[in-house]
Amino acid sequence: MTEHIVIADTGHVRLIRLDRPDKMNALTSAMYDALREALAEADRSETIGTVVFAGTPGAFSAGNDLSDFVEASRRPFEESPALHFIRQLARTQTPMVAAVDGVAVGIGATLTLHCDLVYASPAARFRMPFVELGLVPEAGSSYLLPRRVGLQRATEILLFSEAYDADEAVRLGLVNGIVSADLLLDHALAKAARLAALPEGPRQATRALIRGDQATLEAAVETEAVAFEARLRSPEAQAAFAAFLNRARKG
Ligand code: COA
Repeated sequence: MTEHIVIADTGHVRLIRLDRPDKMNALTSAMYDALREALAEADRSETIGTVVFAGTPGAFSAGNDLSDFVEASRRPFEESPALHFIRQLARTQTPMVAAVDGVAVGIGATLTLHCDLVYASPAARFRMPFVELGLVPEAGSSYLLPRRVGLQRATEILLFSEAYDADEAVRLGLVNGIVSADLLLDHALAKAARLAALPEGPRQATRALIRGDQATLEAAVETEAVAFEARLRSPEAQAAFAAFLNRARKG
């Protein structure tokens, strides 16, 4: 259990809110466990029809907690709560909606690639700085992103760690629409309620058809995990984590 993930079920919609604002909603092991369980429970539930991910004002998520990465590199990655969450995320059947205000970095950005609908505030800023951190992409992003935006743009985003804002995300087809920060969550919840109200049979069958090859996505998650584990232990990654954490310590 962690107080940093807040779950609220209203009608057929489950809101999963990342709530660790002092660390820009960076994800800890306990948060990954809570997120995984919240998704698995939604899939098992007869009443929950959709899930909405949201953060706090100005921060969707700054990605994996970087001090947790240091810990994770000391243990087999197979035991990592992040990997267990990612596996669940990739196979979740319940439609997912994201409401992104502010930073969405690392898994904060790759998570949205799994969502059926994504809405962003004008302040949304997405970034996947895996290479900058000495790592490789995760959460199936090496498979999903090129399919969405083409190989050339995916190369800039994944190899150069280029950020993209809300306008660019809409242009790339990664975000459905831009909504002012004060209306964003209500908008996402309303869309989620609309998805939940669709007849389940055709909704789920259509979702499976338009999302494409599930087995390839899950295989990509596993291939990435092998490379990610090796990179986590690399001198480049360890140096990048230390640089961020020392910067943070110096204030
Ligand atoms: N892990 C751990 N702590 C993090 C974090 C992360 N991924 N991202 C932010 N934080 C913490 C900071 O250390 C700081 O904590 P402190 O106030 O105790 O020092 C706090 O959150 C606020 O972050 P700060 O960097 O001061 O805010 P900012 O607005 O200047 O920058 C970011 C925000 C997200 C751009 C910046 O924090 C960042 O680049 N974070 C790392 C993102 C990342 O690389 N994630 C992993 C991707 S795989």
